[in-house]
Amino acid sequence: MTIIALLKYIVYCMAPGILVKFCRLVCSPPIVYHNPMAILKAMMIGDVMGDPGLEVLEKLLPGLIREHSADFVVVNGENAADGFGLTGATLKRILDAGADVVSSGNHVWEKREFWPAMDAESRMLRPANYPAGTVGHGWYRTEKAGVSWVVINLQGREFMTPIDCPFKTFDALENSLNRAPEQPLPGTAITLVDFHAESTREKEALGFYLDGRASLVAGTHTHVQTADERVLPKGTAYITDLGMTGVTGGVIGMDTQICLDRARTQILYRMEVAKPKPGQPQAVTGVVAEFDGDTGRAVSIKRLRAISADPRPT
Ligand SMILES: [Fe+2]
Ligand SMILES: [Fe+2]
Repeated sequence: MTIIALLKYIVYCMAPGILVKFCRLVCSPPIVYHNPMAILKAMMIGDVMGDPGLEVLEKLLPGLIREHSADFVVVNGENAADGFGLTGATLKRILDAGADVVSSGNHVWEKREFWPAMDAESRMLRPANYPAGTVGHGWYRTEKAGVSWVVINLQGREFMTPIDCPFKTFDALENSLNRAPEQPLPGTAITLVDFHAESTREKEALGFYLDGRASLVAGTHTHVQTADERVLPKGTAYITDLGMTGVTGGVIGMDTQICLDRARTQILYRMEVAKPKPGQPQAVTGVVAEFDGDTGRAVSIKRLRAISADPRPT
């Protein structure tokens, strides 16, 4: 049998199958998968570092929200204003980029002129376990995409300022929210926790403490994304750190040479946000998690790392 004859024979044998597949494709009704579970998606983004972080967030976040069909977005903005705290303008840029809530951490106090704006904007959070009477808000609740969302910002105490206990603070918040009859926790609300902490041990401990009580516990503050994302046994999605949003070529988003000088000499040179350089792209990092809207339990969690392909020249 010649090669051509062999090919003709193969086409002859396959044709009926191809025709059947084509007919099925054209004539069959579309397949509809019935999923009785209402799945909601949340995106949490790590600390935004200065102008480069704001620029890459504005550039990439709207597309990421569309791509992942995110119903709710939390962005940590504690380093948005030149690496230290926020201003009214930087908060607006993060909200305009697509954040539903802006969380923070230990650096949120750096710009004192921002405090009144922080107090006035309920979508701007500072850690909830600062002592009673501290300016600002530690948690936020709203309705979106047909469900209730609760965002709680907490801060660790190991290797950090020894403020109130984050574990007890969550207990108290949960109790007060449960007393509000219209929105008990957990269950009907999807509860997102930004735990701003240095110690990985403290972060994992809080993750397990909140397992089955919060929908997602995401660590922030170290600026280095960890690879330990998973759904804990009782249904809480967890990651030790979301990473940071800004220049990838610096040291935790700060200028490399200044960080080297500080580390080698132990002189506390004032750190500056790293500037974008060719070959050192800017990145948005965080997670996307899915939840059962009926129970608030997590279904999945995935790391997110989006790179801007067009870094600014120096
Ligand atoms: Fe930070
Ligand atoms: Fe921090």
